Amino acid sequence: MNPAAEATGPDLRRNFDLKDEIRDYWSKRSETFDLAFGHRIPPGPEFAAWQQPVRAFLGDEPLRVLELACGTGEVTRLIHDLGHDVTALDFSEAMLAVARKKHAGKPRLRFLLADAENTMEPDERYDAIVCRHLVWTLTEPQATLGEWFRLLKPGGKLLVFDGDWAKPTAVGRLATFAIRQIDRVIGPDNHYDGALSDRHATIMQNLPFADGLTVETLMPMMKSAGFQTIEHASHQPIAAAQRKTANLRNRLRTFVYRRFIVCAHKPG
Ligand SMILES: C[S@@+](CC[C@H](N)C(=O)[O-])C[C@H]1O[C@@H](n2cnc3c(N)ncnc32)[C@H](O)[C@@H]1O
Repeated sequence: MNPAAEATGPDLRRNFDLKDEIRDYWSKRSETFDLAFGHRIPPGPEFAAWQQPVRAFLGDEPLRVLELACGTGEVTRLIHDLGHDVTALDFSEAMLAVARKKHAGKPRLRFLLADAENTMEPDERYDAIVCRHLVWTLTEPQATLGEWFRLLKPGGKLLVFDGDWAKPTAVGRLATFAIRQIDRVIGPDNHYDGALSDRHATIMQNLPFADGLTVETLMPMMKSAGFQTIEHASHQPIAAAQRKTANLRNRLRTFVYRRFIVCAHKPG
C-alpha cells in the first residue's frame, strides 16, 4: 500500500480509484457517445420533449445555470437555447472537447473542467443546476447534494434527469429479451451502452447506487441536504417522443428502465 493510501484510509483510496475509472470510461466513449440511442437529442419532437421540463422548471427569465456532467453538450443546447447563461461542467477532457467543438463561438456559454462532486465554484453562484444521467454515478451522493446546495443562490433550483439503470422494469425485461432476439438476427448495436459493458458493470457494482437509483431514494437525500419542495415529474412524454422516430430496437429500449425527473428548491 502506498503511504498516501495508508494516510487516507481504504475507503478514500477506493473512491479515488473508482472516480479515475469512471472518468476514463466516459473519455473512451466520448467519440461515439452521440451515436448511442438516448444520448444525442435530435431536433424535433424529442428535443421539444426534453426541453419542456427545463422550460417549465427554470421559467422564462434568463438565469445563470450550472449544467453538471455536460458530456457532449446535448443538454447544454436545451438549456442554452432557452436564453440562459450556461456553465457546462464535466471532468472528462475528451467529453468537453466534443461539447466545445459542437458549441464553438456561442455567447453566454462557458465550459469548465471540474469534478461535479467538488466543483471549487464559489458559494451561491448559480440560480439553477441541471444534470442528466449523473446522479446514478456519483461516488459520494449525499455530500455532493450538499455541494450543489452550497452553489445555489437562496431560492435556487436543482433539476435532475436520471433513471434506475440497475433493474429493468417488468416490461423492460420483456423488452430486453426482444432486443436480444433482434441483436441475434441483425447483429449488435456497437455504439449502444453495452459496447463496453464489462467495464460498465464493474463500475456499477462499486457505486453507492449499485442497486439502482430511484426517486424514493433520491428525494429524502435531497431533503437531508436542505432542499425543499421536492417534486418528481414523468419521463413518459420524452419516451413517447423518442418512439416517434426510433427504430424498433430503440423503441424497445425506451421501455427497459424506469426514468424520472426530480426538481428541488433551495429555500429563499
Ligand atoms: C452518461 S454521461 C451523460 C452526459 C450528459 N449529461 C448527457 O446526458 O448527455 C455521464 C457524464 O458524466 C460525467 N461525469 C461523471 N462523473 C462526473 C463527475 N464526478 N464530475 C464531472 N463529470 C462527471 C462523465 O464524464 C460523462 O460525461
